[in-house]
Amino acid sequence: MGKRNEKNGKSYVKCLRCRECKREYEIAPIHICDVCFGPLEVEYEYERIKLTKSMLKSRKPNMWRYRELLPIDGDPVVYDVGFTPLFRAKNLEKYFGCKEIWIKNDGVNFPTLSFKDRVVAIAVKKAKEFGFNAVACASTGNLANSVSAIASIYGMKAFIFIPYDLEPTKILASSIYGVEVIGIKGSYDDVNRLCAEIAEKYKIAFVNINIRPFYSEGSKSYGFEIAEQLSFKLPDHIVVPMAGGSLITKIWKAFQEFKTIGLLKEVDTKMYGAQPEGCAPIVNAVKKGLAIFTPVKEPKTIAKSLAIGNPPDGYYAAKVIRESGGWAECPSDQEIISAIKILAEKEGIFTETAGGVTFGAFIRLLESGKISKSDSVLISLTGNGLKTQEALAEYIPPIKIIEPYVERFEEAFKNDLAKFKQ
Ligand SMILES: Cc1ncc(COP(=O)(O)O)c(C=O)c1O
Ligand SMILES: [Zn+2]
Repeated sequence: MGKRNEKNGKSYVKCLRCRECKREYEIAPIHICDVCFGPLEVEYEYERIKLTKSMLKSRKPNMWRYRELLPIDGDPVVYDVGFTPLFRAKNLEKYFGCKEIWIKNDGVNFPTLSFKDRVVAIAVKKAKEFGFNAVACASTGNLANSVSAIASIYGMKAFIFIPYDLEPTKILASSIYGVEVIGIKGSYDDVNRLCAEIAEKYKIAFVNINIRPFYSEGSKSYGFEIAEQLSFKLPDHIVVPMAGGSLITKIWKAFQEFKTIGLLKEVDTKMYGAQPEGCAPIVNAVKKGLAIFTPVKEPKTIAKSLAIGNPPDGYYAAKVIRESGGWAECPSDQEIISAIKILAEKEGIFTETAGGVTFGAFIRLLESGKISKSDSVLISLTGNGLKTQEALAEYIPPIKIIEPYVERFEEAFKNDLAKFKQ
């Protein structure tokens, strides 16, 4: 990891601060201001942080290379998280007639193939620092997988709360770790409300409730990587999936912090939020020009990982979109599937339904002219298609099954084979 700050491996965190009334709080497992009920956010001693491009060059390719801007003390146990591929999507550029398309793919993140590994790597470490012996989460699936895996590595007890009807693969990919997986008869919002009540009563670190201010900071590493991997020149547009609305705000915070410490000159990227049509509270608010969103009571979408009807950071996500000059879109289930297929066929990436939402939103934004084909755009893929196969099953043609004879093969491909003759 290289050298930590001189205060004995302590982070550069200054305090927690209420996003609304700006009241300062000590570093503790709390998440809401007791005066105005605003959310608390981590603040750093920016003036003390010295982080240069050459320092970064010498560090390992994982999220801890940005440790000065992350809120953990001492060294993490789970190292190889982050620094996922960011590449130019030439085939897509050709297909859509666009000048510059970039993809950042957290579908190959470690250990559980989604961007949630970033937030959980911070949250579980922080839970340990605060003296918790048990961690928990309210999840739409990916967070469940990540908490299960990382809590196991730390040897902590884990309670995983999910809507009972999630994709079977997502459930299995939590249960495999031998943790307590609890399916709740209700929507994600019911799961979250239940967890908030349990967190009041028991000494359990709910990563996205009482540890939330620290947890959400992990998402900044996705933004830091975008900046660094693009040689500190941000694209004109970035399209980001939204569920609770945290990731998009933290990518934005990452850019602002890089500017504060002198690693970025300007931040003039426009931020675009994507949600599925069947659960699009933030997108609807942005489109209507409203600051406040109306919660969706009964989400109905194949993109279950984004099905949060009452997003905790929805207000701030809409604000980032507005302030950056971006926009928001919400593709239908059909568009999500078609987007997943285009990505697979053109770039070899099998993204999850959330990626289909993001890419589907990008296609809509291109078609409506909100994103110009002559600009540069980055598409944020955050999960892996192998976890949401059920959503696609009925749209993928069945395979050809034949007897093991050359003649059968020739019969099956009569029209194609002439051009491959030796
Ligand atoms: C694959 C994937 N992408 C994006 C998100 C959205 O993250 P956020 O809740 O920070 O908006 C989630 C949330 O569960 C997710 O699972
Ligand atoms: Zn407050």
